[in-house]
Amino acid sequence: MSELIQLKKARANSDAPTIDSGTPKGFPNPPVRTVYLETYGCQMNVADSDLMLGLLDRGGYARTDDPAAADLILINTCAVREKAEERVFARASMLGHGKARPDVVLGIVGCMAEHLKDEIRRRAPHVDLVVGPDGYRRLLDSVAQARGGDAVTDTRLDREETYSGLDPIAADGVIGHVTIQRGCDKFCTFCVVPYTRGRERGAAPREILRQVRALAAAGVKEVQLLGQTVNSYRYEDVGFAALLRAVAAVDGVERVRFTSPYPLDFADDVIAAIAETPKVCKHVHLPLQSGSDAVLARMRRGYDFATFRTLYDKLRAVPGIAITTDLLIGFCDESDEEFRATLRAQEELRFDGAFTFAYSEREGTYAARKLPDTVPAETKQERLAEVIAAQQRITGEIMAAQVGRRERVLVEQRSKRSADELMARTDAFRTVIVPAAPGVEPGALVDATIVRATIATLFGAVAPSRGEPASSARRAPSRGGMGTL
Ligand code: F3S
Repeated sequence: MSELIQLKKARANSDAPTIDSGTPKGFPNPPVRTVYLETYGCQMNVADSDLMLGLLDRGGYARTDDPAAADLILINTCAVREKAEERVFARASMLGHGKARPDVVLGIVGCMAEHLKDEIRRRAPHVDLVVGPDGYRRLLDSVAQARGGDAVTDTRLDREETYSGLDPIAADGVIGHVTIQRGCDKFCTFCVVPYTRGRERGAAPREILRQVRALAAAGVKEVQLLGQTVNSYRYEDVGFAALLRAVAAVDGVERVRFTSPYPLDFADDVIAAIAETPKVCKHVHLPLQSGSDAVLARMRRGYDFATFRTLYDKLRAVPGIAITTDLLIGFCDESDEEFRATLRAQEELRFDGAFTFAYSEREGTYAARKLPDTVPAETKQERLAEVIAAQQRITGEIMAAQVGRRERVLVEQRSKRSADELMARTDAFRTVIVPAAPGVEPGALVDATIVRATIATLFGAVAPSRGEPASSARRAPSRGGMGTL
């Protein structure tokens, strides 16, 4: 996986079954256990948490938002940054010491579990369970074993595991995730993901489409296809372009997004599928990492700036497309001139947005073994601040240019700021706040005229859909209809 994703707490626990909902009607109350789960890291981890919750739900665990009430506490972790791992150690210590009863099982799962299994055992003896991203199918057994008093470590990587046939917890929102590909074969020198998630493998198209249909039937409007290098997807003779078109053709699906792609795997047929399929969103995350050819070579990204530029131009030719990126600053030996090349690339390409990071060494990677991390921390921070300032200016200009435009937006949820507003997104993944109005509800596709912009958010007035009376904001057809964008 090419991009680094900031540590973030994943979405609220809203799609959890309650303790009551775990009790079948008409039966005496069975002993219901509860699970508390925290998720850190990328979208793949959010999807993996839903997968674990589905499995645990079927195994008799209802979800709780209160760790003090839980029989099982899981922390699903990321290994991309050291700081994130340290925070997990602190969190595990807090949750471990707050365990209400001795039979409560505390587990660290996910990428950090895979990356630091021995260190977790050494530094956090109160952790009962250490499970890597390929061990979730055995989770119920592992938990039972841990409850019996064993310290369980299940970090075996599996070249075949795609969790086929294992349904995540039932979706109840507007957005649904389907993991189409796991693992990574790219081995960029800075990246720990191939070591935490193993080799690349795609799920069978039939299984992917089964999951997409289930999401659409549950009322999901936007399907996000996930993979560490999602556009490298291949299963037998089916490639990513064909899969995108097939997913977009599922009845009830209004939008299709994907994350996170690898630049070189944007083959012409993939770009054509994006351009020609109205339901495939016009937003691509294209992680550049550095504007310097020498740095790109040290990173083993597989492209130089000119090659990236060619791909970028092909994607930019798709009408309305937004392109975001990742920039990794201060990578091993980065000279001032090499850093300036990244600043020049930013100005030249004018990305719509960027995740920016200062490089920190990750144990086990090629860079940690062979390339000294020579750029002083202070220099990294100064360069990072320069890159962030440049990107804020560019993004601010692009956002300001949206004012006055009419956009079709998908309403995702009520706004956290005010009960009178809702949060929606454009096709190009820009956040738009729209006022609450009849028909403007989560799941609705409405037209909005952009009236104001900040660097992160657009504000829109709901406009009557073309050809419809002023009051009728159209709700996306729930099932059966294809809908139009
Ligand atoms: Fe982190 Fe693992 Fe995702 S290392 S970014 S949670 S693939």
